[in-house]
Amino acid sequence: MTAETTPKFLRPIRSFVLREGRLTSAQERAFQDLWPLYGVEWTPDTAIDLAGLFGDAHPVVLEIGFGNGDSLAEMAEQDPQSNWLGIEVHRPGVGHLLLEIERRGLTNLRLIRHDAVEVLTRGIAPGSLDRVQLFFPDPWPKRRHHKRRILTPELIGLLARALRSGGVFHAATDWEPYAEQMLEILEASSTTFENLAGPGSFSPRPASRPLTRFEQRGERLGHRVRDLMFRRR
Ligand SMILES: C[S@@+](CC[C@H](N)C(=O)[O-])C[C@H]1O[C@@H](n2cnc3c(N)ncnc32)[C@H](O)[C@@H]1O
Repeated sequence: MTAETTPKFLRPIRSFVLREGRLTSAQERAFQDLWPLYGVEWTPDTAIDLAGLFGDAHPVVLEIGFGNGDSLAEMAEQDPQSNWLGIEVHRPGVGHLLLEIERRGLTNLRLIRHDAVEVLTRGIAPGSLDRVQLFFPDPWPKRRHHKRRILTPELIGLLARALRSGGVFHAATDWEPYAEQMLEILEASSTTFENLAGPGSFSPRPASRPLTRFEQRGERLGHRVRDLMFRRR
């Protein structure tokens, strides 16, 4: 059965709807020339050899849904002692970040174009990540779409498995009801995650997090931004 022939009720609920979007000619070139250098051809069911991928054993930070990747490139440039792995499904965003990796001459950033939930389920060895970032995930504001929100108790279970003890999960959102829901889900996992801001509180925005594209949009709309930082016990 292929994705097209699988009955709708059997298809997994995903946190994204794939809009292919047009690639610019620079992004087309990036997929041809830069993807072989910085892209990871991940085959489901194989654990990614992180040390082999980066050529050293530096701590690994994973970002879920980096969008156009400008803020991820900035963070990777600011912290060359860490290895950075970005996951995004949207092709133009991946193309944009490939060009940014080349422009900044980054050697510590690699990209996967796939559903991050699947990569976390089958591609990341237990305890192998130092940090996971989830910045401004799609809020799916309509009630009938809430089931598409990526932050679920299942995702927290996957993160608990992937993060090393002492590793940090950092989320940010400008959608207040989603922020409250994230806090509730994470607080319910207090046996595995400790709230760095103290029980029931949001974290102050860390200076290390650059403004993302979606955050700027949220700010223009007058939305309040919430950060959540939880440490793996
Ligand atoms: C609202 S945008 C935010 C992008 C970026 N973090 C920012 O703040 O500008 C959410 C992004 O997550 C991506 N995304 C959603 N679900 C995903 C998944 N399961 N795996 C990988 N990427 C995903 C979408 O394609 C989209 O680019």
